[in-house]
Amino acid sequence: MFFASKRMPNYRHSEGTRGQYFRRLWELMRHIRAMSLYHTYSLLWDRKFEGMEQIATRGTVFPDQLSPVNSAHANLTYEYGPSPRPVVEWLLKALKVDFSQYSFVDIGSGRGRVLLTAATKPFKQVHGVEFCSVLHEQASRNIAGYPGERLQCRDVQSILCDALDYEVPEGNCVLYFFNPFDVQLVERVVTKFLDSAARNGNRVIVIYYNSKVPELLSGDRRLAFRPLSKLCRLRLKLFSPHPVQVYERVVGEA
Ligand SMILES: C[S@@+](CC[C@H](N)C(=O)[O-])C[C@H]1O[C@@H](n2cnc3c(N)ncnc32)[C@H](O)[C@@H]1O
Repeated sequence: MFFASKRMPNYRHSEGTRGQYFRRLWELMRHIRAMSLYHTYSLLWDRKFEGMEQIATRGTVFPDQLSPVNSAHANLTYEYGPSPRPVVEWLLKALKVDFSQYSFVDIGSGRGRVLLTAATKPFKQVHGVEFCSVLHEQASRNIAGYPGERLQCRDVQSILCDALDYEVPEGNCVLYFFNPFDVQLVERVVTKFLDSAARNGNRVIVIYYNSKVPELLSGDRRLAFRPLSKLCRLRLKLFSPHPVQVYERVVGEA
């Protein structure tokens, strides 16, 4: 296709074709890299944890199999797939906050992998918001059956509801999204948290993993990029299947 385009008389057209070709090639290479990293984590890491899970958190559930309950946003959902555990670990470590002063909320929590990873830290509470009843039940079973001695947070719950219906918890919050749905809906959920934080003077940290449109959140004047340590950035660059953005609420912006 690329070589054919070089022979085309319409130069602008061939430039477009060439651009598309490289874009697709780049997308394909990124996809292959992401799949290889997932596969490596699954071989090296996940097996160790799956012995502790009642229902394996790995795998994919496509949007047409999700059957959401009471949601006006079913058409905006992407598929279920879990975050790689080490990436969540690196991000939590890089936050360098006193976990006991924060709640952790995973919006679109699926089978509960991120919940259980976060709950190994002493967060005030760890909540997962999931609108598919089957995934919610599976997450609840995973939470109930997880070895208690591994958990430092005692209030870990999967909550069955649509992301926008979830009631913002009191106090400071770390909000986690692994690309659960369309970015406009992500913005609406973040706005709800920021409004509540502005009323109550709380801190909000937003981790947005595999955002398709990172510019949208960065356009909100109430959020600023939260810098990560050099080590964390290097780890993510080399070993994360997807990019990540971390933001925090600018204190004083209403
Ligand atoms: C990509 S998965 C992420 C799972 C988990 N957070 C993780 O990182 O391992 C996204 C999840 O969001 C859920 N979801 C999608 N739209 C939702 C909505 N409007 N309200 C609540 N959950 C939603 C899906 O059912 C799916 O389980």
